[in-house]
Amino acid sequence: MSTPRTQRQSVRGKSVADTGSAIFLPFHENFSIFKRMELKGKKTVITGCTSGIGLELLKLLLVNDCTVVACARSIDRLELPAGIPTDKLYKLKTDVSDKDELDALFTFAAEKLGSIDLFIANAGFAYYEKIAGPDWEHIEKIYKTNVMSFIYCAEKMKALHGDAPYNFVVTGSSMGFLSMPGYSLYSGTKAAVRGFADAYRLELAPGQHFQVVYPIATKTKFFSNAGSDTPVPWPTQSSETVARKIVNGIKRDKKHIYPSATFRIMSIVNRVLPFLFKIYVAINNKAYQKWLATQPAKAEGDK
Ligand SMILES: NC(=O)c1ccc[n+]([C@@H]2O[C@H](COP(=O)([O-])OP(=O)(O)OC[C@H]3O[C@@H](n4cnc5c(N)ncnc54)[C@H](OP(=O)(O)O)[C@@H]3O)[C@@H](O)[C@H]2O)c1
Repeated sequence: MSTPRTQRQSVRGKSVADTGSAIFLPFHENFSIFKRMELKGKKTVITGCTSGIGLELLKLLLVNDCTVVACARSIDRLELPAGIPTDKLYKLKTDVSDKDELDALFTFAAEKLGSIDLFIANAGFAYYEKIAGPDWEHIEKIYKTNVMSFIYCAEKMKALHGDAPYNFVVTGSSMGFLSMPGYSLYSGTKAAVRGFADAYRLELAPGQHFQVVYPIATKTKFFSNAGSDTPVPWPTQSSETVARKIVNGIKRDKKHIYPSATFRIMSIVNRVLPFLFKIYVAINNKAYQKWLATQPAKAEGDK
């Protein structure tokens, strides 16, 4: 027997019968492109939230009444401003480059949250450098942190949920599109994020959202952690703005989240005028060469 139309229409997993009638929805909510996921109450795991973009995201999640498992290596030193509710916050010291620690994170999340509606794989870092020579551990460290960890977590989320809905968000980078001088290894890891996501998304069931964020230069500890006196590429955004745009993108189940409209426009224009990115890279290469000239030559074996 066919289901009456009013019961078949669904609003975020609830039948219209559960929510009252479609007539009472705000006008724009009747169109799928305007529908927004409700963040309130979401059981969330976030990695890399002791500073920068992750810290701003954590604040927004807590303010939105999410129950959050937050992790980083220095999570014990997490500082939240007064006024941010912490009664639904659970912290776990985790190094995401370690498989056993990620397993422990999922066990901890199962204990504290029961299930995970939203996983945000944000932890990551860069080297700003001239590659000194063959160095397996150097490559391994960044690929384990920036690539293997999020793929493993994505696989764990899929295994946990089967075909049930969830959101998985990973912080990629504009450098996933546009490799930058001094960031060979880092750009490689962020291109891997994009490459994996665009294929893996097609393996997921309806309602399972795999969302990649492509921030441009963001004013965080990222650059000072990448190397000494690392030049910051223009333009920049604040971590507060980036986090706000990420939350908007999550709510809209966007596959691709571009916190910077300028970068989005530049990448579209670059398809027609492909010299645009070349000029941008050339400008940044000048800054890189200047930076290189100030770097003391690395001693043999000093990594
Ligand atoms: N800032 C930018 O310009 C920019 C641009 C594009 C993309 N991104 C991406 O945005 C993400 C966040 O970076 P950010 O700019 O906010 O930098 P950030 O301020 O340095 O924050 C990085 C966060 O990741 C954590 N982290 C690093 N390695 C980790 C590990 N092995 N295990 C667990 N946590 C780890 C750090 O905490 P602990 O050190 O305590 O572990 C910290 O909480 C990264 O994925 C980065 O690649 C940044």
